[in-house]
Amino acid sequence: MIYLDNAATSWPKPESVYLAMDEFLRKNAGSPGRGSHSMSLAAAEMVEETRMLIARFINAPEKERIIFTLNCTDALNLGLKGLIRPGDHVITSCIEHNSVVRPLRKLERQGVKVVRIPTSVETGVVSPRDIEGAITGETKLIVVIHASNVTGVIQPIEEYGMVARQHNLILMVDAAQSAGKYPIDVQASNIDLLAFAGHKGLFGPPGTGGLYVGSRVDLDSLREGGTGVFSEQEEQPTVLPYRYESGTLNSVGISGLGAGLKYIFSEGLEKISAHEQYLTGRLFEGLSNIPGLTLYRTKDGSNQASVISFNIEGYEPAEVGIILDQAFDIKVRAGLHCSPSAHKTLGTYPLGTVRLSPGYFNTDDEISFTLQALEKIARAKIP
Ligand SMILES: Cc1ncc(COP(=O)(O)O)c(C=O)c1O
Repeated sequence: MIYLDNAATSWPKPESVYLAMDEFLRKNAGSPGRGSHSMSLAAAEMVEETRMLIARFINAPEKERIIFTLNCTDALNLGLKGLIRPGDHVITSCIEHNSVVRPLRKLERQGVKVVRIPTSVETGVVSPRDIEGAITGETKLIVVIHASNVTGVIQPIEEYGMVARQHNLILMVDAAQSAGKYPIDVQASNIDLLAFAGHKGLFGPPGTGGLYVGSRVDLDSLREGGTGVFSEQEEQPTVLPYRYESGTLNSVGISGLGAGLKYIFSEGLEKISAHEQYLTGRLFEGLSNIPGLTLYRTKDGSNQASVISFNIEGYEPAEVGIILDQAFDIKVRAGLHCSPSAHKTLGTYPLGTVRLSPGYFNTDDEISFTLQALEKIARAKIP
């Protein structure tokens, strides 16, 4: 079996992730921060250690500014709905994931104005100048995807950060596809809100994610409830992270996420990124030689995450996905990838594309086998 769907969720996980979750659930899975017995204290210690590792990873000034969420979607919802009010103006791109598109559509129905900036046809990038040109007196937020989950193109978030600071706006970045793959420095890049998935590049299990909340942002909470601290108050505490973390946390997931982060620190982000870049380069090269295969790639190709989209003449993308799975045991994702607007930009709406997203554990042999499989599929339609 070959797994090439790491952009959806990474698999396999490092061995240490499985071990950490198994050990935590067997030995220490008390309710974190909810008691003074040793299991509860051990669980709280693990949660705070993971919070600290994430803070270190993105250079957050304080670990309390890392909020654990259900996934990246949940983090994006908290950032958008906690910040934006009727009458506000939001600038975003035309290539966002539905986890940004749909909350913004809902906010629009409540009186929020949203402007969507297209990407350049040559580079796939949203120009910082275009973002700056869209600013009005009501603009509160710029929200952009870091690496596209359809084409893999990486956006210049540092430049967006400069624009946001110059105009005293909030910058929120959707780092679902980039966290764990590229260095992110929220302070140097002037990022106020960073939403990330724990279960993709960070090697945690599904059901993990988070939001970094910078000091310039005063977000409302989306849910209130027990926090294990300030229990005498009937009002939700305003202290971070408790303001946004009501209810029992996914401590088993967070233990796996912590082990995933330790794995990245010990392997080194550069090594992980270099291997993925190498595999992506091999795929691009091999795919470009397959007859009848159209690659959706920018001309430059230098600012590219390990996400590749293509189509094969004579097939719908879903058919290619099924053949790869059933005839070759290769797992890929075909269709719209929860990003219809990105596919409209590419001209691949409504059927979408076939997406390959190699990860750190894929091998050269797996890439060769996949290329051979795709060549066979493509040639079957050539008369
Ligand atoms: C760019 C992007 N944003 C957000 C998400 C949502 O992530 P999650 O599944 O963790 O909610 C994804 C997931 O594929 C994504 O690719």
